[in-house]
This record gives sequence, C-alpha cells and structure tokens, in this order.
Amino acid sequence: MTQDEMKQAVAEAAVEQIKSKLESESIVGVGTGSTANFFIDELAKIKHTFDGAVASSEATADRLKQHGIAVYDLNSVNQLDFYIDGADEFNEKFELIKGGGGALTREKIVAAVAKTFICIVDETKKVDLLGEFPVPIEVLPMARSYVARELCKLDAEPIYRDGFVTDNGNQILDVHDLEIEDAVALESKINNLVGVVTNGLFAERSADIVLMGTQQGVEVLTR
Ligand code: 5RP
Repeated sequence: MTQDEMKQAVAEAAVEQIKSKLESESIVGVGTGSTANFFIDELAKIKHTFDGAVASSEATADRLKQHGIAVYDLNSVNQLDFYIDGADEFNEKFELIKGGGGALTREKIVAAVAKTFICIVDETKKVDLLGEFPVPIEVLPMARSYVARELCKLDAEPIYRDGFVTDNGNQILDVHDLEIEDAVALESKINNLVGVVTNGLFAERSADIVLMGTQQGVEVLTR
C-alpha cells in the first residue's frame, strides 16, 4: 500500500466512525493537509446527513465549499461533536506535532472546541519520542527574532519558514532539536513567550482516537 492509499483508507475509516452519530444539525470540525483532504472528499459523499463544517484553514474551507458543504464560522457554532485532522507525529499518549501545513493555530482552536478529536494518520507518523519533525511555532511578525533567540536558549534551532504567511497574517518558525520529554510542559512554556500565537505541540489537548493506516489495514487506537 502506498502512503496515499493509507491516507485514503484512514479517511474512509473516519467517515465510518462518525457517520452513525451525525444528525441533520451536526457540524463537523475539519482539519488541514493531504490526509484531511482525503477525508473531505469522503465526507462529501454523506453531506446530506449533516448540516455543515467548521474549517481549520482557508484551503480546507475552499475544498469543503467546492463539494457543496456549508462552512460555518466557529463563533456561530454551539457544539462540535467531532474534529478530524491529520498530524505530523504522534506518540503513545496521542500527543501530536502538527502545523506542517502552517494551520496549527486554527487547528488547535477547533480541536479545543470539539468533544472528540479523531486523528487520522499513516503509520509513518508514529514515534516513541516527539521531535524528529520540527515543531512549528506561529509568531507575530515583529516578535520573530526575539522568539527565535529565546528558543536558542533551549538549545533548539528555530528556522524561519521564509515566504510563508499564515491564514492569520503571521509567520512560522520551524523548531528543530527540541527536547520533548514533557510535551504538556513544553507546549505551555513556548506559548508563554510573548509574541507566540501558538505552537504545534498538541499535548494539553491531545487526540482522543487515532486511526492509523498500516500495510495491513486501519488500526483504531484508543486510550
Ligand atoms: C497542517 C497539519 C497537518 O495535519 C499535518 O501537517 C499533516 O499533514 P498531512 O496529512 O499532509 O501529512 O497539521 O497544519
């Protein structure tokens, strides 16, 4: 099975997980990235069974709309039963690194609101220790160099994602070589640096269920 075939399989499995629980007024939280795109295409096949979606990026909103799925502002939504999104890495506690696509802040907000966060990944994303993938940090542009200097004090190597502007008009530092023994503590410590909007560690609000595509099929991992 190719990586794309595993992504397709987890997208189908995610729709299977949620479809019996969706009602005509349900709103689904939808993530960003190539795996999320497979999910959107599968979700479109059952679009008549729910009301609409909240998108974690402009790209996701565009794809949902192309499928004729209504996209709601999160502020107008009272309840979000599910958030479905990919990840760049996950560990056995279902803590994640996200933000490879730069949508981490909106992703974290939608994940915070959702009752159940279903993470859809292929087996290449599973790690014992988070941090091989650099942790993206969204920063206000004027704070970029200050935040980078503070991160260097943690013996990490922040690299400016040159030319990339987030949907919120901010910039991204991709931080290599972070020691992530305690992801919850590090998430909070980085978020406390002034000028940081948020970082791509999803540990305080980790995933609830991981659907992992493998060569043998999709594994449903629960805690
Ligand atoms: C985007 C993300 C994505 O979920 C993450 O980068 C994984 O992407 P893909 O499904 O393309 O491998 O966090 O900001």
